[in-house]
Amino acid sequence: MKCLVVPVLLFGCLCLAFCYGYANQRIFASSKHEWNKLILTHHWPVTVCKMNNNPCKDPPTFWTLHGLWPGREEMCNKSWPFKLNEIEDLLPEMFHLWPDVLHPNCSRLWKHEWQKHGTCAAELECMNSEHKYFSKTLELYKKYDLNSALLKFGIVPSTSYYQMKDIEAAIMNAYGVMPKIQCLPPDHGKSTQILGQIEICFTKEIELRNCSEGESESRHFLKDTPGGLQRKDFCVCNNTCRHIIPPVDQIWN
Ligand SMILES: *[C@@H]1O[C@H](CO)[C@@H](O)[C@H](O)[C@H]1NC(C)=O
Ligand SMILES: *[C@@H]1O[C@H](CO)[C@@H](O)[C@H](O)[C@H]1NC(C)=O
Ligand SMILES: *[C@@H]1O[C@H](CO)[C@@H](O)[C@H](O)[C@H]1NC(C)=O
Ligand SMILES: *[C@@H]1O[C@H](CO)[C@@H](O)[C@H](O)[C@H]1NC(C)=O
Repeated sequence: MKCLVVPVLLFGCLCLAFCYGYANQRIFASSKHEWNKLILTHHWPVTVCKMNNNPCKDPPTFWTLHGLWPGREEMCNKSWPFKLNEIEDLLPEMFHLWPDVLHPNCSRLWKHEWQKHGTCAAELECMNSEHKYFSKTLELYKKYDLNSALLKFGIVPSTSYYQMKDIEAAIMNAYGVMPKIQCLPPDHGKSTQILGQIEICFTKEIELRNCSEGESESRHFLKDTPGGLQRKDFCVCNNTCRHIIPPVDQIWN
């Protein structure tokens, strides 16, 4: 048995060296924080309620902000805490346009978005403080006004169905770029998907760009609620399904 000791140790060392090197590479790679796409994410509050099995008293009936995400970069500076008082002047708009749909009077969503995404976006000068990150995001949301873009083509909450191509066409018409649209998967045995989230993408220069380019079309999903309480996840909508934007009274149907 004794003669095994040396090779085992040697093998163990090689392993360690390899793992250590690998870990180092990983740390190095993630410390570079490379990203090339800012994703302005809107969600449909009624769908958020539904996917979390939450009855949600009076959810907003327009697309609200979920966040502004720099690619897949996350948690870039854990020593940069969220401070509510830094955005006090923005709070009326925050509560209205960027509510935590599940906890309407809480700042939990904003804290989460800042820590996970804002600390990465802060690499850009135009967002290099908490206040600038939130006010820039509000500014983009208002400037690009997804609700009006969809309304113009009659894409409103309704119990009737939409085709994905019509929703994409409305957004293409308004912005000249392709969004990424996400849905709740159909309930078992049904072929209707529920529209949940619409992403509009920007370059680092804050110019519109197509969302999909330069990305292997991906399972970039979307567990992005604080605490991870979400029951189901969004996925990219399936073009062969029909789609619905549920009105408020449809939460449980
Ligand atoms: C992280 O945030 C803190 C607090 O704002 C700041 O002092 C520090 O320079 C930041 N670190 C990096 C690497 O940006
Ligand atoms: C949120 O605050 C408003 C007014 O301050 C209050 O009427 C409402 O009941 C609160 N909602 C929750 C869920 O606490
Ligand atoms: C964006 O996508 C559309 C439709 O797929 C395409 O026609 C257009 O050329 C793309 N724009 C850029 C800048 O690549
Ligand atoms: C899309 O839906 C159709 C019909 O329900 C199904 O056959 C197909 O597998 C789905 N495709 C994906 C990628 O989920």
